Amino acid sequence: MNARLSPRMAVVGASPTAEISNKLRVLAAGGADVINLGEGELDFPTPAHVCQAGIEAIRAGDTKYTAVSGTAALKAAIARKFERENGLRYTPSQIIAGTGAKQLIFNAFLATLSEGDEVIVPAPYWVSYPDMIRLAGAQPVILPCRAEDGWKLTVEALAAALTPKTRWVILNSPNNPTGAVYSHAELAALEEVLAGHDTLVMADDIYEHIVHDDSFAAPAAAMPRLFDRVLTINGVSKGYSMTGWRLGYAGGPEWLIRAMDVLQSQSTSNPSTISQAATIAALDGDMSFLADWKRTLLSRRDQVMAAVQTIPGLSAIATPGAFYVFADCAGLFGRKTPAGTVLASDLDVAGYILEAAHVGMVHGSAFGMPGHLRIAYAIDDKRLADALSRVAEALGKLA
Ligand SMILES: Cc1ncc(COP(=O)(O)O)c(C=O)c1O
Repeated sequence: MNARLSPRMAVVGASPTAEISNKLRVLAAGGADVINLGEGELDFPTPAHVCQAGIEAIRAGDTKYTAVSGTAALKAAIARKFERENGLRYTPSQIIAGTGAKQLIFNAFLATLSEGDEVIVPAPYWVSYPDMIRLAGAQPVILPCRAEDGWKLTVEALAAALTPKTRWVILNSPNNPTGAVYSHAELAALEEVLAGHDTLVMADDIYEHIVHDDSFAAPAAAMPRLFDRVLTINGVSKGYSMTGWRLGYAGGPEWLIRAMDVLQSQSTSNPSTISQAATIAALDGDMSFLADWKRTLLSRRDQVMAAVQTIPGLSAIATPGAFYVFADCAGLFGRKTPAGTVLASDLDVAGYILEAAHVGMVHGSAFGMPGHLRIAYAIDDKRLADALSRVAEALGKLA
């Protein structure tokens, strides 16, 4: 039946993070006690006042189609958020809400890219960018960043990669999978390079609220000369633990937002009305819950860093954002498992950890950075401790 698929399907693969979760489900179904350190979502419940707003929306009959890009009330709440938290001023026609940030990123690429266009994707990158770019007919230009540079794009690397074909540059800060956060000064330096080029900039700020210092700056605000060509992507998935509500939003130039609105009108239409109402409560509401969440996450990060530093063959730099440690595992290459397999890649290491410790982690190649593992630590403290000691034990058995 494959013969019936469009050639378009040749450029896209299933999300590797979802694949790890599937493998773990199979192991769990066989009775194994599996621990998933591969999932990109917080283990905290959505705050009660946000859930309540969703329940009230259902009871009030707020259950019908709305404007494709979201209700006027939601857009007003998004505009208030942008101004209050980022110093960004967007009019309602410069704002769109969609079914998760993912859909908005996809629509932005689909609306702007054509054959021959290039998109600069600093690596390691969120797994979906390259496939989305290819699906839109363009070419991802992967720009590897280095741990020595804090996993951040340098001015020199960016300047060397820009070509007349560059249509977008992606800046994802805080970064998935490294947790790296670009400071205001670093963004200002990148602005200097980008000002001499007419590329669009995609600022994926979705992890904005999960930062353990005050280094976060929204690129659209830190690079004011580029404001007219920055698309700011955000949403409630990470900062409010609302991954399942599927609500993302974006602010950007009116011509682009209008085109994204058109695509959305012919595909998914408006995001769920229940989620729209809950998002207004989230954006306008009290955020004091976040301090507790961040305290918990910081202590888990330190727990993972301590383990990584004591396990021979693993190393990582500490970063202030998101809920991932991106560990170098190349020190394990050449070692032999008890079954006699020689570990030769990050995929081998992740596979061995999965089989021997029943702990799931995503291999760095999935993020365009072989030789690494992404350790997501947004799970219960005790389970995390169990997972880390199982990993240490399994890696201790390597010869
Ligand atoms: C960097 C990054 N951008 C966007 C998204 C998509 O978020 P959403 O749940 O709003 O679609 C994710 C989710 O993992 C992400 O890690």
